[in-house]
Amino acid sequence: MSDTKLKWGILGAARVNERLLPAIIEASNSQLVAIASRRAGAAKATLEKYATNYDGYVACYDDMDALINDKNIEAIYCPMANEEHAEWAIKAINAGKHVLIEKPMATKLSDIDAIEVAVKKANARKENICVMEGFMYRFHPQHARVVEIVKSGVIGDILSVRSSFSFLMREARMYRINRAMSQGGGALWDIGPYAIHTLRWAFGLEPKSVIAHAKLNEHGADVVTSGILDFGNDAKNRARFGHFDISFERSRKSEYEIIGDKGWLKCHTVWAFDKDVPVISWGTDAGESGEEKLAPANHFVLEIEHFSDCVLNNKPTHLTFDDAKANCAALQASIHAASRGA
Ligand SMILES: NC(=O)c1ccc[n+]([C@@H]2O[C@H](COP(=O)([O-])OP(=O)(O)OC[C@H]3O[C@@H](n4cnc5c(N)ncnc54)[C@H](OP(=O)(O)O)[C@@H]3O)[C@@H](O)[C@H]2O)c1
Repeated sequence: MSDTKLKWGILGAARVNERLLPAIIEASNSQLVAIASRRAGAAKATLEKYATNYDGYVACYDDMDALINDKNIEAIYCPMANEEHAEWAIKAINAGKHVLIEKPMATKLSDIDAIEVAVKKANARKENICVMEGFMYRFHPQHARVVEIVKSGVIGDILSVRSSFSFLMREARMYRINRAMSQGGGALWDIGPYAIHTLRWAFGLEPKSVIAHAKLNEHGADVVTSGILDFGNDAKNRARFGHFDISFERSRKSEYEIIGDKGWLKCHTVWAFDKDVPVISWGTDAGESGEEKLAPANHFVLEIEHFSDCVLNNKPTHLTFDDAKANCAALQASIHAASRGA
């Protein structure tokens, strides 16, 4: 990795900046140079709130286009509302910026296609633009350890994966569920991307069909959804199902479990906060068991360092457009099923 730091701007005074803004500052190969919001004073207030003890200069814009056209900025982090990602990412790409787009990359497949077309056009002009969907959890080392344990054969062939993500939504955050699923609102578009991404990642396959059941609020946003994705039978004709369970009404759960034909494995703190101690436990039908505590890691910082490294050293990003499209398709199918209770 070179000593050069990638210069970042943040497009939007979103709450998630609580995690990402300090991560951009902390990342060894990155430098925060600007933040923008459409609300007067919000960019500066966000910077002051989350960049405590930072002594570098950061420009604060009350105008998104000013940030996009700032020649000093090389990469943009886009944490805008889900349904706004595509429009603003495309503007940024057209201005020659690399873009890390929060999950979900978009709520429509056609929007992801449009982002990809913008990147292809920019790259035809030799601009070498990097775009990636922001699944920070993929950069936590605990998942590489999970892969090692699974590859050792101790739990056998993977036949079932369960992912659970829930927390009690505070009153102040209720505005996140004040619009219908069809407009990008609700649990499936918010925490569902992680739960479904995890199932697809663990199987290394795409689902063939989904059934889901949801509780909708008065706005048509789901506040609790459970679903089963069918990943098709294996070579021995055994069913492979992925189960997800997400909720804004329950206590905090942030875990996945992989069940094989010999045993099971559980990753206990997946979409974790940086101070959580990662724990992986496993057991077999033969009576063996194990538990490993790993060193805490900040997956937000690791995500930013990965993206900056890809841009600075012309490497492919770990997460691809094909992955973003497959996740979006699985989410759309789950939303369709949940809205029909089918
Ligand atoms: N990776 C993670 O751990 C994680 C966690 C949470 C969310 N996310 C993702 O990050 C994105 C942003 O989520 P979020 O929950 O942080 O969104 P949010 O706080 O609702 O902010 C989204 C956008 O709405 C505007 N906004 C923020 N507060 C507002 C307010 N009080 N009144 C009016 N507008 C306001 C901001 O744009 P302006 O500044 O221009 O007004 C902001 O860019 C989403 O795509 C979400 O899925 C990721």
